[in-house]
Amino acid sequence: MTRFFTLNTGAKIPSIGLGTWQADPGLVADAVIAAVNAGYRHIDCARAYDNEKEVGLALKKLFEDGVVKREDLFITSKLWCSHHAPEDVPEAMDLTLKELQLDYVDLYLIHWPFRVKKGSSISPENFIEPDIPGTWSAMEKLYDAGKARAIGVSNFSSKKLEDLLAVACIPPAVNQVECHPGWQQAKLHAFCQSTGVHLSAYSPLGSPGTTWIKGSNILTNSIVNMAAEKLGKTPAHVALRWGLQMGHSILPKSTSTARIKENFEIFDWSIPDDLFAMFSEIEQARLIRGNFVVHPQSIYKSVEDLWDGEV
Ligand code: A2P
Repeated sequence: MTRFFTLNTGAKIPSIGLGTWQADPGLVADAVIAAVNAGYRHIDCARAYDNEKEVGLALKKLFEDGVVKREDLFITSKLWCSHHAPEDVPEAMDLTLKELQLDYVDLYLIHWPFRVKKGSSISPENFIEPDIPGTWSAMEKLYDAGKARAIGVSNFSSKKLEDLLAVACIPPAVNQVECHPGWQQAKLHAFCQSTGVHLSAYSPLGSPGTTWIKGSNILTNSIVNMAAEKLGKTPAHVALRWGLQMGHSILPKSTSTARIKENFEIFDWSIPDDLFAMFSEIEQARLIRGNFVVHPQSIYKSVEDLWDGEV
C-alpha cells in the first residue's frame, strides 16, 4: 500500500504530504483541513513560505474538533538561510513551533546549503559562507531536546550529503529535493538508498503553476499521458504514483479541494513494470535551478557549483 516509509530514526513518514510552498496564506488553512479530511497525515511547511501561522490555526482547529490527534500527524518545517548560525537555530525552531502552535515537529530540515546574514534577504551584500557542520550540530541539539523528532536537509547534492554524513553524529534522516518523472535524480536516488537517507520529493508534479519555471510540463509529457490513458488515471496520479514506486515520499501542493483529493488517489493501483520502465526515456531537466543563490559574490558561482554538477 506504500502508505509510509521508515526513516533511519525508526519513525514512519507518511508517503504523501501536502506541500504548502506558494500556498496563499488566505487559502492554506482550508487546504490543510481539506487534506487531513481526505486522509493526508503529513504537511510540509517552511518558515520561508510565510504561511506557518495559518497552517498552525488549521492544525489547532483539527485538534480541537477531534479530527486527528497531534501524534497522528507528521509535520515538517525548514530552517531558513538567515538562521544558520548555531546560536540562531533554536530561535528559528521556536518561532516555527510558536506559529504552528506545536511542541515539536516530526522533521526539521536545513532548507538550502546557503547562508545570508541573520534576518537579511537573499542579496549579494548579505551572503556569508555556509558552515554546514556548525549548523548541523545545532540541528542535532534540537533533535536531542525533542523539538525535532528527526532532522535532515533539503536541496543537497550527493556530494554535499556525503560531506555531511562524514561529520554528522546524527545522520540526516531525509534529503528533500525536486523530484518527478522529468527530474528523476538518478544519482542522488542511488546515493540516498545506499546511505539510508530517505528522499522526499518536492514539486512532484513539476510545479505546473510556477510561471518562472522554464522547462517542459510533466503533466503534458507524452509518456506520462500515455501511461495515464492506459491506466485510466490522470497525469497527476501517474506522476505521483511514479514517485511512490521509486520509494520517495511526495509532497504535491494544492489549494483546490478537488485536486487535494485527486492527489491522494494513488494507493490502490500501480504502474506495471513495462510502463514503469518507459519513464527512463523521459527527457530530464532540473526545473528549480536555485539561480537565486548563484552570483559572483556567492560561494556558488554557477548552477553547476550549487548542485556539484548534478544539473
Ligand atoms: P492548485 O494549487 O491550484 O491545485 P507541485 O506540487 O509539483 O509544486 O505542483 C503544484 C502545482 O500543481 C500548483 O500550481 C497546483 O495548483 C497544481 N496542481 C496540484 N494538483 C494538481 C493536479 N492533480 N492536476 C493539475 N494540477 C495540479
